[in-house]
Amino acid sequence: MRRTEEPDPSLGDRGRGEQPAPSPHEEAERRVRSRDPHSVRCPSVAVRLGIVLLLCNGPSPAETPRPTQLPPDARRHAHEHAGLGTVGSPAAGGNIDPTTYLTTWNFSNLPPGEREKFYRETPLSGGSMLREYRFYTVNKEIEIAPGVSFPAWTYNGQVPGPTVRATVGDRIRIRFVNQGDRPHTIHFHGFHPPEMDGSDPSHFVLPGEEFVYEFEADPVGVHLYHCHSLPLTQHIHKGLYGVYIVDPKVPRAPARELIMMMNGFDTNFDEENEVYAVNTHAFYYVHHPIQVQKGELVRIYLVNILEFDMINSFHVHAHFFTEYRTGTLSAPTSYTDTIVLGQAERSILELRFRYPGQFMFHAHKTEFAEKGWHGLFEVTESEGGR
Ligand code: CU
Ligand code: CU
Repeated sequence: MRRTEEPDPSLGDRGRGEQPAPSPHEEAERRVRSRDPHSVRCPSVAVRLGIVLLLCNGPSPAETPRPTQLPPDARRHAHEHAGLGTVGSPAAGGNIDPTTYLTTWNFSNLPPGEREKFYRETPLSGGSMLREYRFYTVNKEIEIAPGVSFPAWTYNGQVPGPTVRATVGDRIRIRFVNQGDRPHTIHFHGFHPPEMDGSDPSHFVLPGEEFVYEFEADPVGVHLYHCHSLPLTQHIHKGLYGVYIVDPKVPRAPARELIMMMNGFDTNFDEENEVYAVNTHAFYYVHHPIQVQKGELVRIYLVNILEFDMINSFHVHAHFFTEYRTGTLSAPTSYTDTIVLGQAERSILELRFRYPGQFMFHAHKTEFAEKGWHGLFEVTESEGGR
């Protein structure tokens, strides 16, 4: 619950989780075709996915409104915290740009005036920080491959939701407003008291209502959050999830840090994924390779949220990485070029690229790679020509 003795952000009435749409795909396709042999199958995959979507465009069980079946006391969260207007709008199209998503946390992609509507930090005694967030759910069509849209349920208009990042011991307070049409919650992995779990039906936040989550950031590591309403598979695969990073008090070594959520989309509601990706958009980083410098430390915060499939995996070409499983301990857990993760498993990966040029990274579940979970690093000589 909100503690009134601590500051509360003067959050505005109008939200804007939506980001400008990615640059035109025609241009990207042309650019990639001219230099990258891996990309030639993208258009055909996109066409195939488009056909799947067209064939399955009718109403589906997943889209049929159903009674909430909530106990009456589930409404006890209602209007507990007055004074919030509506934020965001269910506008069609657009998602956070996957390149921007890689390096964004605590709404750092927003200009200062806009950012303070969604995030504020206040130093507390003892050197820790109060970090206040404004989250909302909204239904929204997002693009998951060129020309393929998906009727997502989103946190703040984006899939994955905004990355939450704190130092261990910080106080996290999230004011959550449900602007969707189903009961939703935010369930965080990490320590918290039971009433902050967002999993019991009495925790469900009904459409139009709100709740304030508050807990201490702990333990150190790379974690995740997701909706825990029922049916859980539906609430997760529709897009209600995000990354939650807890930094150690002594910071990790400076690095180029990249956030990657391995996800997938069931576009025809048959409880199998038709599209796989890292950060939502199939093949995006083939079209827009991730820029890194030779020799610099690259740190990847990797989370698997994939629904329906038993495992996911991450593989990088021509290089090896040090893995810190869940990021909770300071000692590395492996040194390899491929890892496998079940749902909600995650890892911190650190590597240095030895050679300039382009290097693929993809799921070494090759079916996933062919259906979108496939990208490129573009390594350039470091400044000074090292
Ligand atoms: Cu939900
Ligand atoms: Cu979970």
